[in-house]
Order: sequence, then C-alpha cells, then structure tokens
Amino acid sequence: MEQLIHITVNGTKEEARVPAGMTLLEFLRERLYLTGAKEGCGSGECGACTVILDGKAVTSCLVLAVEADGKEVWTVEGEASDGKLSAIQQAFIDEGAVQCGFCTPGMIMSARALLMRNPHPNDDEILEAMSGNLCRCTGYEPILAAVRRAAQQESEDVQDER
Ligand code: FES
Ligand code: FES
Repeated sequence: MEQLIHITVNGTKEEARVPAGMTLLEFLRERLYLTGAKEGCGSGECGACTVILDGKAVTSCLVLAVEADGKEVWTVEGEASDGKLSAIQQAFIDEGAVQCGFCTPGMIMSARALLMRNPHPNDDEILEAMSGNLCRCTGYEPILAAVRRAAQQESEDVQDER
C-alpha cells in the first residue's frame, strides 16, 4: 500500500507516493538521489544516516518516510550554498576530520543540529551531540576540533554581518 507524502527537503517541497515501509533514508537516496546520508548499520547504531528532521538530528534508517510527512528535512546536500562549503564542511577538511568519509555526512548533520540549538557549545556538549556517530578512522579528536572551529567561525560570521 502506498501513501502520498509531502516533505520539504533542503528547502524544496517534494511530493511522492511511497510504500508504508519505506524509510526516510531510502526515500532520500532512492527517490531524491540525495546519497549523502549513508546506510551503515541500518539499525540506529552508527549515525551514518543522520539527517535533521524538524530541527532535530535523527537516524533516518529508523524513520519511515510517511512519518516525515508534512515535515522539514535537511541533509548534507543542503550545507553548501552558492558553491561554497559551509563552515562545518570546511572545518572538517581543515582539521583532517575526513578520512574515508563514510561517517562524514552524518557527523556534519549532528554538528549542524547542535549549532542550530547551541551556537557556542563546550567540548562536553559537542561530545554529547556527536556520541551517536561512529567513526572507524579518525580517533574522534579531529572531529571535536572541527566542530569547535566551525562554531567559532560561524559566530565570527554572525558578528561580521552585524
Ligand atoms: S545506518 Fe542508520 S544509524 Fe547506522
Ligand atoms: S572518516 Fe572513515 S568512518 Fe569516519
């Protein structure tokens, strides 16, 4: 059985008929070809599929597409604008927090959700916010440094705009 859904993804309104059992991750990857969010474990353990749903970081492998009906989703594809990487993306590169890159889109979305609700997080708050995202490559220290750097950069950008 299929259901009609309306979801705003990275600011664009989408309408689709989806099977009741389709996950939000499958909808993003297979229907919208937004392949930034990755399927790692498929069971809520690794965070590779993290996206932002109505302002909160969620593991999209555990959310049904029909549950996102009427809601707003942001994925890593919504981070860059006008061909320019976001402060978080740039900080991940600058701090060497991207190695194989499999965890990176999910990490970036967890960091984005954190900075949306708390623009000046301390290290404990960063570690707490990123605790659902696993990385096999970096040892986590560069990721912590990247989120710190992005928070600093975004607060400088806000001050420059004033
Ligand atoms: S693929 Fe969703 S948490 Fe691992
Ligand atoms: S960079 Fe490889 S899993 Fe994180």
